[in-house]
Amino acid sequence: MKFFIDTANLDDIAEAQALGILDGVTTNPSLMAKEGITGEENILNHYVKICEIVDGDVSAEVISTDFEGMVKEGEALAALHPQIVIKLPLIADGIKACKYFSDKGIKTNVTLVFSAGQALLAAKAGATYVSPFLGRLDDISTDGLNLIAEIRQIFDNYGFETQILAASIRHTMHVIDCAKIGSDVMTGPLSSITGLLKHPLTDIGLAKFLADYKKGN
Ligand code: G3P
Repeated sequence: MKFFIDTANLDDIAEAQALGILDGVTTNPSLMAKEGITGEENILNHYVKICEIVDGDVSAEVISTDFEGMVKEGEALAALHPQIVIKLPLIADGIKACKYFSDKGIKTNVTLVFSAGQALLAAKAGATYVSPFLGRLDDISTDGLNLIAEIRQIFDNYGFETQILAASIRHTMHVIDCAKIGSDVMTGPLSSITGLLKHPLTDIGLAKFLADYKKGN
């Protein structure tokens, strides 16, 4: 399972990278705005800074909603750095743009996926990643994990190579549940990753080991 961090915060990205388990980064316009990164030039520069911190794929989202605009924007994003993955919304023009980029061998991440049918379309268009939004479904009393399971079954039925990127992850149990279902990738905040470290028996056990070592020295 690949671990992506879902943020534009450079400190959080560097902390996850330092753990040695980070496989990539996802961002979106809201995450950029949260860090105060606004304006086209600043946003593009920020993508490059992120690519310089991590080794893996970095999703950069287009803001155009028409095919021509998505292609123009996506090509400019892809030219920024070899690690950039073009993030496209699951709308008709996004699917067309996904097919356009996948035919050219450029990686894509189709985002804002809330149904198995949408995920199937993205896979048919050759998406590298498809991003079902788990947390936002849970927010409206709909089982987000069930969507991940449905997409897993459909992709396995037909051998689609599109990777399921479980997005809108909010906490560590989402990560574990996605791993059980067989999601290829998860993306979440730093806390969803560092939360996996925590167990009181680890802390108690370590404290006892250190105390016993001191007794003998
Ligand atoms: O990766 C998608 C993510 O950024 C959305 O997360 O927490 O805003 O639903 P959230």
